[in-house]
Amino acid sequence: MTRILIKTNRIISAVLSKYKFSTAAKSVASVQIKGKEFVADDYTNVTPKIISYLDKNLHLQKNNPLSIVRQRIVNYFYSSFTHRGHPAFSVYDNLPPIVTTKQNFEDLLIPADHPSRAKSDCYYINRDTLLRAHMTAHQSELLRSGLDNFLMIGDVYRRDEIDSTHFPVFHQVDAVRSQRQEELFPDKPELQIFEPTFDKTNPHTNHINDPMKQSCHTLEATKLMETQLKTHLIGLTQALFGEDIKYRWVDAYFPFTHPSWELEIFYENDWMEVLGCGIVRNEILVNAGPSNTIAYAFGLGLERLAMALYKIPDIRLMWSTDSGFLTQFENVDLNASITYKPVSSYPQCTNDMSFWLPPTYTIDTFISNDFYDLVRDIGGDIIEQVKLKDKFVHPKSKKHSLCYSIVYRHLERTLTQTEVNQVHKEIEKAVVDAYGVVIR
Ligand code: PHE
Repeated sequence: MTRILIKTNRIISAVLSKYKFSTAAKSVASVQIKGKEFVADDYTNVTPKIISYLDKNLHLQKNNPLSIVRQRIVNYFYSSFTHRGHPAFSVYDNLPPIVTTKQNFEDLLIPADHPSRAKSDCYYINRDTLLRAHMTAHQSELLRSGLDNFLMIGDVYRRDEIDSTHFPVFHQVDAVRSQRQEELFPDKPELQIFEPTFDKTNPHTNHINDPMKQSCHTLEATKLMETQLKTHLIGLTQALFGEDIKYRWVDAYFPFTHPSWELEIFYENDWMEVLGCGIVRNEILVNAGPSNTIAYAFGLGLERLAMALYKIPDIRLMWSTDSGFLTQFENVDLNASITYKPVSSYPQCTNDMSFWLPPTYTIDTFISNDFYDLVRDIGGDIIEQVKLKDKFVHPKSKKHSLCYSIVYRHLERTLTQTEVNQVHKEIEKAVVDAYGVVIR
């Protein structure tokens, strides 16, 4: 469970997987992505399959569990931090996933030989361009544009095996919160963010030898930021999982923060890492613009939270287009406790039913719920879902028509189309008898 975080212990996996992937990339002259052509080189290792995930934006699909968790996190930050009645955080959830190595690594002080840059771990388009490996890749550009408090939400790409908890594409929420002296220590002009000995004109003299803090920062500023950071993230965790959630902080290392921590929650009899965070390295802030602030940053993985919150047993389900999965998350109250109910692995079969209503009904007075019950009465357990697909009034005859989709699925075996058609016919007959409709 160490994968979501870009940190040093990835050395081991990078060394191990060096051989596994060294022959994987076929040589191509260029790569086409979203109508744009990129020159390929010896780093190119994106595959057409991976490129096909680029437009999916699961975190923005309203009936996807990732989107529900995203909205809950955004709401937490919106309601916890306001500035003159407006949310203090701005949210970026549509940043393009193709980034430069500068954005993904250099801007974040990730050294040239750092294992997280390995070809075996990232999807490179070429030597200079890759699919972002973390949302932190956008931190510097947003700071540079003048923002101080923001969330970056999107899909990230890391080469990995595929199993029930790993998938090469997943989603992160990353954040930065910065404060100036007067915000961090209101009415306490005697307290400072920076050590008096620190030469702000020469930010690269900052070092991280002391495990407690960066050499440029005062201990008071660091400690206060640490307390705020931890309080906010525990608040978020409790807002998601409830007050009783068991958690612990673990010291961590990231090239872009110091000090750094990880938060683990106790889930299904084990500790599960849910986020990484820390105090942003002052060099990053100075390179991007602000030289008078201190900031904290964190990054969390949406899949793990969604899987734990809704008891979703397999990460691949997030990509399901199966309505049996998606309807469980459709139009739900964001804070409702939802427990995912496994859907059958046998295929669905969808048949539509359209009919003209008799004059006693209009498209607005016909009660869909009555129809649903009738469908279930006849079809029984093989009815997975019934939904209104279309309402229609004929312009000339003024006759009213409705169309419903019925999704059939057996829990233990594959239904044949003939079998489904037969049940479908029986349902048609029953609606004709019950309501006097005319099947179209
Ligand atoms: N970018 C880190 C990761 O993906 C998470 C992180 C973000 C850690 C911000 C600290 C600060 O692993």
